[in-house]
Amino acid sequence: MESLEEIRREFLARLDQIRSESDLNELNQEVFGKSGRLTAILRTMGQLSKEHRAAMGAAVNEVKRELEQRVLERRAELKKRAQELRFLRDALDVTEPADFSLPRGSLHPMTQTYREIRNALVGMGFSMFDGPEIELDDNNFTLLNLPLDHPARDMQDTFYINNKVLLRTHTSPCEIRALQTVKPPFRLIMPGRVFRVDEVDATHHPVFMQIEGFVVDKNLNIANLKGTLDSFVHAVFGDNVKTRLRPSYFPFTEPSAELDISCTICGGSGCRVCKGTGWIEILGCGVTNPHEIMNCGYDPMEWRGIAFGVGVDRMASLKYGISDVRLEYENDARFLRQF
Ligand code: DAH
Repeated sequence: MESLEEIRREFLARLDQIRSESDLNELNQEVFGKSGRLTAILRTMGQLSKEHRAAMGAAVNEVKRELEQRVLERRAELKKRAQELRFLRDALDVTEPADFSLPRGSLHPMTQTYREIRNALVGMGFSMFDGPEIELDDNNFTLLNLPLDHPARDMQDTFYINNKVLLRTHTSPCEIRALQTVKPPFRLIMPGRVFRVDEVDATHHPVFMQIEGFVVDKNLNIANLKGTLDSFVHAVFGDNVKTRLRPSYFPFTEPSAELDISCTICGGSGCRVCKGTGWIEILGCGVTNPHEIMNCGYDPMEWRGIAFGVGVDRMASLKYGISDVRLEYENDARFLRQF
């Protein structure tokens, strides 16, 4: 009886000290386990007399019930405490400033170049105008003064959808759509994707991006064209870049020219990029052919146009020194990360 009371007291004292469930299991084992102290007492009961055995049995059961009850309570306490600790440790402070060191992307060099060209021209009073990528043969060729049998049609190998419909080979058909829908005078830029049957190589891609510039007004002439292009080039490449108009041929302009700028790589002294000439061609341009004006229902004696078409990939190559257009159209992250 005495050692039973001792076991009880000691058990309760140790129970208060216990800090974890595993310690609790250990204590349980020590007392109630196979070789536990209470189990040992139960084993000696066989040696007791009948009356003593009944009294002892009742006492042991009482202590056992009490201790088991206390163990249950203590276990619940420990569980609760452990959960509270976990809540404290995992607590989330939603007012804490976020970590902004996530990797961030940047605009594609073509997008940057496109926006720069657009901003320069919008700053010069141009507005945006849009045309479709799937175009009528009429708009892409015939009304631009390239009738069916015109040899210049071969300059642009065309993806045809049927006899009358094609993927536009340039942004110039937007000029026809503008003349048909916008009342002149106007100053418009028409950006977009164009398509040509071309093998992919360092300077060719079957899909590329152009920006068309188109001004229609009374009394326009080639001086207006030259002034407009000079302002545009200086806005994009800086004031030190020189320009020159070189005679050329396009069916939709008369006269036609190509605009060269002094080489942005060597500054004009001659290098590999400008093939030793000091000049680089950046766009085609001209004074709108009277046939185009007439084809759209206006009197060419009253209305004149000046126009230019610039390749965005070429401008991006020059701005950033990119030597292969494929890099501009394939989204290789190792390349793009540099911008
Ligand atoms: N459309 C021509 C091309 O893709 C570029 C061009 C030349 C556009 C002269 C024009 C222009 O507006 O006047 O090759």
